Amino acid sequence: MGLPRSLTMHVIILLCCLFGPLQNHVIAQSTTSLSIGPARALDSILQDYAYRAFIQPRTGIPYDGTAPLNLSGITISAMRLRTGSLRNRGVQSYKEFEIPKGISLNPYVKRVVLVYQNLGNWSTSYYGLPGYTYLTPVIGLLAYDAVNLSATNLPELKVKATGNPILIHFSDAKSAPPGLTVKCVWISLSGSVSFSSPISGNTCSAVYQGHFSMAVESISPAPAPEMSPAPTPTSGGGVAVPNARPPSQGKGKSSKTKIGIIVGSVIGGLVILTLLGLLVLWTRKLKQRKKMQQMERAAEVGEFLDMTYVGPTKAPVAMITRTPPVLETEYVP
Ligand SMILES: *[C@@H]1O[C@H](CO)[C@@H](O)[C@H](O)[C@H]1NC(C)=O
Ligand SMILES: *[C@@H]1O[C@H](CO)[C@@H](O)[C@H](O)[C@H]1NC(C)=O
Ligand SMILES: *[C@@H]1O[C@H](CO)[C@@H](O)[C@H](O)[C@H]1NC(C)=O
Repeated sequence: MGLPRSLTMHVIILLCCLFGPLQNHVIAQSTTSLSIGPARALDSILQDYAYRAFIQPRTGIPYDGTAPLNLSGITISAMRLRTGSLRNRGVQSYKEFEIPKGISLNPYVKRVVLVYQNLGNWSTSYYGLPGYTYLTPVIGLLAYDAVNLSATNLPELKVKATGNPILIHFSDAKSAPPGLTVKCVWISLSGSVSFSSPISGNTCSAVYQGHFSMAVESISPAPAPEMSPAPTPTSGGGVAVPNARPPSQGKGKSSKTKIGIIVGSVIGGLVILTLLGLLVLWTRKLKQRKKMQQMERAAEVGEFLDMTYVGPTKAPVAMITRTPPVLETEYVP
């Protein structure tokens, strides 16, 4: 029975298509996300003020800028580089950052400005992480096109370490309270937060640009009703894994929506299975009916004499199954 089997395959593929994205959705939900609007506006202001530090800048030299007065406590720097030099040599040391060779920028620009931010006492105002306490100020590394050093509202370039990761050597990290695990925090430009373990002491690694810090989970007086498993960060590769969960803040609600999604998927799946089952039955019936029709037609044809071509015309031929006529006289018992 080739037909039902192939249909079964279709059902399986269809279900995978249906459930795949839902599963991803459930997993993606476990990533903490910050509302990043004010922080992105700050990035834009700091890009502007960092660029003002440049007066006939030489490449490869960091220039310290001055943050606007209403943001005092934040320090900024800017360094201009040829993209080729950044890719082939990296930067041995730029504030806390050690940038390896193999950095790729997207889109491609000829020269790049790396803007460094240290948010100091503004870290929690802009990047407050519910359930976590920072051990270091939040620092940022963002890349912009260097073609116009008076430009404002520049979009960030996508920075990716294609070889070794970028290393961040935090200089003034507070020591963690005993028994708490120190985590490296990476906040992407879209506001997603990822945790990983330090690769050693106060050194964290990063693959992309963004904002970085070290943090411990806050010792909160109100324990969360459902213990979230500690995000297990991958060590070694240094790739920050987006597996953090906000320990507080609407956990019940999110698990309720998760249950809702799962129940919805199951019901949806059952409905689709039923529909597919009906389709299978219908197809089978159709095939049977066709077969019946064929058999009927064949039976009808069979009632007539076999046709054969006699010259150009079709003519019925008697079959030889008839009893051949026998002369009575020839009959010898
Ligand atoms: C600081 O001043 C700038 C203008 O100089 C303004 O755009 C920004 O919103 C202000 N930030 C704060 C936190 O007051
Ligand atoms: C950070 O410290 C500076 C003084 O160094 C102060 O002017 C500013 O208001 C502080 N910012 C915050 C968010 O407390
Ligand atoms: C650089 O950017 C500034 C501000 O956006 C603009 O006024 C200026 O014309 C730009 N210069 C060039 C050469 O594009």
